[in-house]
Amino acid sequence: MPAPGPGEMAATVAHLRAVTKRHSARFERAIPLIASENLLSPYAKELMISDLHSRYAEGLPGDRYYEGNEDVDEIERTCLALAKRLFRCSFADVRPTSGTVANLAVLKALTETGDLVGTSRLADGAHISSAGFGAFGLRGVKPVYYPWDPERMTIDVAKTREVLRAVRPKTCLFGLSLFLFPMPIEELRPTLEEIGARGWYDAAHVLGLIAGGQFQDPLHEGCTVLSASTHKTLPGPQHGILLGQTEDPELRKKLESGAFPGVTSNHHLHAMAALAVSLAEHLEFGREYARRTIENAQALAQALHERGFDVLAPNLGFTKSHTLAVRVEKEGGGAEVAGRLAASGIIANKNLLPGDRSPKHPGGVRLGTPEVTRVGMGPKEMVRIAELFDDLLHKGKDPSAVADAGAELKKRFTTLQFCFGAGEAAYRYYDLVGRDPS
Ligand SMILES: Cc1ncc(COP(=O)(O)O)c(C=O)c1O
Repeated sequence: MPAPGPGEMAATVAHLRAVTKRHSARFERAIPLIASENLLSPYAKELMISDLHSRYAEGLPGDRYYEGNEDVDEIERTCLALAKRLFRCSFADVRPTSGTVANLAVLKALTETGDLVGTSRLADGAHISSAGFGAFGLRGVKPVYYPWDPERMTIDVAKTREVLRAVRPKTCLFGLSLFLFPMPIEELRPTLEEIGARGWYDAAHVLGLIAGGQFQDPLHEGCTVLSASTHKTLPGPQHGILLGQTEDPELRKKLESGAFPGVTSNHHLHAMAALAVSLAEHLEFGREYARRTIENAQALAQALHERGFDVLAPNLGFTKSHTLAVRVEKEGGGAEVAGRLAASGIIANKNLLPGDRSPKHPGGVRLGTPEVTRVGMGPKEMVRIAELFDDLLHKGKDPSAVADAGAELKKRFTTLQFCFGAGEAAYRYYDLVGRDPS
């Protein structure tokens, strides 16, 4: 496509293209370790920029508020069938446009203003959806916090049983943003049944691991409803999903109307179609991808530990997910370390860790392996990444030299894996007709 032409606004558009291209090039060189990010496959990307992006389709397949949706209906039916097959469950709704929107849909469906809802504390790794200033506050529900077990790095089963029996919330949410170990849902199931509470699982982070059979299986362990983002360990488009293991028509209806008209109008048809591609690809490649993602997280944790980093949960093997947490107080604290890493081309985020005294001073960084695994890195490369951490944060090596060493490593890992069309460039910026717009 030619440059947009003369004039100030055309120049602005040209500039925006150039900055986006620069962004892609930056990530092509970088070591991306954000636990919530991933890369879209070529076939999913293609549907993201299709005509579907221009259309509206409120409602469900066969029962729309707009005309012209015959093909959308077919795509959405396929997406729903793939979701149910991948998660071995009886209910799916692919209309939430993000994980937070999916959480809002569940809150709308399952709760009333003033209800008590079980959840984890932000400091123990919960998402801001559970906060008064987040989705919980918007719905006007009050959190009942599960006590934390620092030995097992998950919620404390015995103490949580006591809290649940005393307070008897009708809905109990399980799931974290700093999600290292599975939640003890099977252990808590009898208590949930005893108090008549419904189990709800937020799988935003671990959806792809669950689908790949490598984490826990909450819909078969005692939760009836699951909400999630579709773009973290499941390498799909930025979107949301609801899943359920229930034949109860009333509950299904409530979840559907929670999604629409509760918290969405149009449901971003291009992303829904791309999600169908990602679900199909995960059925084909997801088991191996999830296995390697966890293997890499464990390898990175071990290699950092061996170089003197305070990786959480050494007695538990550090992690059973895609994420590891490193306490970096002696290296300068979460904010400073995340900034120094970024200046060296290693992209991670500062994170509150269990036991942190002030939410304003996160004591750690959260590292994740979904993206480095997606481009084909393995345990050997995790050791090299740990060496870069050591060079920068312990040996005082110059940040630009560390960035160059990271880029040298990354050179061999810039194509997409675990998808159809594997081998396509993962980061390169192309225009609509597939040319480099430089
Ligand atoms: C546990 C959890 N739930 C929900 C979300 C929100 O997802 P989204 O960014 O898709 O709204 C996140 C985001 O990181 C998360 O970690």
